[in-house]
Amino acid sequence: MRYGSLQLKNNLVAAPLAGISNRAYRVLCKRYGAGLTYVEMLKVESFLHHNRKMMTLKYYREDERPVGIQFAGNNPQWLAEACKMAEDEGYDTVDLNMGCPVPKIGKCGAGSALMAYPEKAGKCFDAMVNAVKIPVTVKIRAGVNENCLNFIEIGRMAQEAGMVAITIHPRTRAQSFKGVADHSRTGELKAAVDIPVIASGDVKEPEDAVKILRETGCDGVMLGRGVWGRPWLFREIDELRRYGRVITPTPDATERLGVLRDHFALLLEGFDARHACQVVRRYATWYVRDIPGSAQYRARMTQVESREEFHEVLDEITDHYESIVGVPEHEIIGRRAPALAVTF
Ligand SMILES: Cc1cc2nc3c(=O)[nH]c(=O)nc-3n(C[C@H](O)[C@H](O)[C@H](O)COP(=O)(O)O)c2cc1C
Repeated sequence: MRYGSLQLKNNLVAAPLAGISNRAYRVLCKRYGAGLTYVEMLKVESFLHHNRKMMTLKYYREDERPVGIQFAGNNPQWLAEACKMAEDEGYDTVDLNMGCPVPKIGKCGAGSALMAYPEKAGKCFDAMVNAVKIPVTVKIRAGVNENCLNFIEIGRMAQEAGMVAITIHPRTRAQSFKGVADHSRTGELKAAVDIPVIASGDVKEPEDAVKILRETGCDGVMLGRGVWGRPWLFREIDELRRYGRVITPTPDATERLGVLRDHFALLLEGFDARHACQVVRRYATWYVRDIPGSAQYRARMTQVESREEFHEVLDEITDHYESIVGVPEHEIIGRRAPALAVTF
């Protein structure tokens, strides 16, 4: 897939995810086949301020390329300045967020709130595109609510302004994350514009991606929550499309725990140990949720305070898993809490 001058190795994009898509997350997505990743959404004024938190959020390394940045804002001049800075800082592409439904962003008239103001959005598009040479894209919702489904109008404006691709998360702002993403709207957008359209929403299994690509004719898919604790979803989609089935076996618990260890090690490259522990608490349970009897370890993982403690809990889960491999499910129930057993 091409984003203007930027040739991507495939059409699988890792979604920008506030609070999630830090470098560690992106590296894992890329390792398993993402063609493009994004740093977390940044409020344009915070980016221009360059404060310390921003330095952490926007941190990326050369070996991640191609890497995109995404801004939330509604001030054309600020957005243009931010695009210029992003270009100077080496990002490969820049996206405008018109999808975020959270009040903190909406009350500034940014994110999905901007869907209600097409004229203002158009000025932002023009300012961003005219400010830089790197490809500029936009991520939109289906509209403000069911009475204002203006994704085609906004999509055409983006194309007119010179944006090189549009990602659509086809829920409305009013829906937030409720209901389902209606990808018939992705198909309608694809039919209405000539630039690439990327579908975002509810890709949980490889089959979901293949179905959306086939039924909507869209150019690519963006993966969000489906990848949490399962970065190999990129590989599975790729294999399903190439060979008609997923070839590589889904990682078993031992391999998943290995990926979690890697995830933590990557976090330690960018954060001090305390911060890395705070962040890994968010991710850790995703990787072990399917291991029978892991509830007690999951609970502990959400409280780890140090690198040693993290590895201790992981070692215990590994031992637990190795002790139950091949044991029927009903027998595992009785083994769930060895710590409690010693009290008898
Ligand atoms: C925790 C969380 C954070 C998100 N942050 C962003 C963001 O920073 N920028 C953005 O464009 N979309 C963001 N989204 C929306 C996702 O990119 C995606 O469009 C949406 O979750 C639907 O796709 P999914 O079903 O694959 O998750 C976020 C979603 C979640 C759940």
